[in-house]
Amino acid sequence: MGSNSIGKDFVVTCFGESHGRCVGAVIDGCPAGLPLAVEDIQKEVDKRLPQKEEIVSARREEDAVELLSGTYEGFTTGAPICILVRNKEVISDDYDAIRHTPRPGHADYPARIKYLGFNDNRGGGRFSGRLTVAFVMAGAVAKKLLELAGIEVLAYATEIGGVKILSTPSIEDVKKKTYESSVRCPDPKVALEMEEAILKAKSEGDSVGGIVECVASNVLAGVGEPIFDSLDAELAKMLFDVPAVKGVEFGVGFEAARLKGSQNNDPYVMRDGEVETVTNNAGGLLGGLSSGMPLVVRVAVKPTPSIAKEQKTVDLMEMKEATVHVNGRHDACIVPKAVPVVEASVALVLVDQLLRAGLIPKVLGVEAVGEYSDVTEED
Ligand SMILES: Cc1cc2nc3c(=O)[nH]c(=O)nc-3n(C[C@H](O)[C@H](O)[C@H](O)COP(=O)(O)O)c2cc1C
Repeated sequence: MGSNSIGKDFVVTCFGESHGRCVGAVIDGCPAGLPLAVEDIQKEVDKRLPQKEEIVSARREEDAVELLSGTYEGFTTGAPICILVRNKEVISDDYDAIRHTPRPGHADYPARIKYLGFNDNRGGGRFSGRLTVAFVMAGAVAKKLLELAGIEVLAYATEIGGVKILSTPSIEDVKKKTYESSVRCPDPKVALEMEEAILKAKSEGDSVGGIVECVASNVLAGVGEPIFDSLDAELAKMLFDVPAVKGVEFGVGFEAARLKGSQNNDPYVMRDGEVETVTNNAGGLLGGLSSGMPLVVRVAVKPTPSIAKEQKTVDLMEMKEATVHVNGRHDACIVPKAVPVVEASVALVLVDQLLRAGLIPKVLGVEAVGEYSDVTEED
């Protein structure tokens, strides 16, 4: 199976399966000298676990992060960083029952055709949302590098099951309230309605989708590698690699198609000696490069495909029509768990692009590891 790595200078390779022994990531290209502890990664992984258990799948993984290589005395060494979590709460029987009756909306059928049935189907195998723990772990390292560059990446839910946030939340509210809410929405009133929408769908044996918005602030102008590795193209690729993501838009996105040039253009102004734009319809991206304005991206997340409701399918052994209802433990809405995944995905792309542009050095804080001049051949 090819294509398990992403990035050119900050290369992340993702390994593991939903019901295999572990899920993890290897990062090759992280600069030496970054302070990194397992707690930095654990903090991000813990964001995947909402406070209210009924909102997400009944699968309860402890997800204790193991940092296996690439650090020494609390700093990255420049060597590959291997990070993983073990799968402990695995119940595969539910998947034996549906092995030959593919779940509508999941990857079961095309995966079986592509890999001639050799793919691990338990829990969706490589196609499980569980793989995104690896994105979050690698993203935690990326976020630490971005912190050095003064860049902050924040994601939150803006819509779930048709319930929408009505106004753009302030950065302060996003920071303070997003993770206080089980659905990862910074508006507490809307968050409660979103929860209700999820629980209602769940009680009907169904699921709901929604939208995650992500803002990266303090990205300086000119980041991106046009033409084919433009910043928007790289972000869209990474975000479409998140399972269940069905749409990606920047700034006003598809709405731009309905505006006139005079409405859509973001006029330039000078503010405190800096070039800025009055509006940010472009979402901080022009010509595949960052514009210096906040980068704003939204992703559409589809409703969870595995639902308890009976659905039509086919029996691939008998080659006849059949029905399936999924017994496993599933998220009635993917959005709450997708929020930290989107945040991590955006961080990974930004770090890769900053490294490629030489805007993050390959070795950080030389003083932290001692005087190079003292090191002799014999050492
Ligand atoms: C964080 C996360 C959690 C997910 N949880 C589930 C789940 O519990 N049940 C399910 O059927 N799909 C879940 N998915 C979605 C499937 O993995 C995805 O729909 C499937 O692989 C098909 O891919 P596609 O939707 O991108 O076409 C999850 C996705 C993410 C990102």
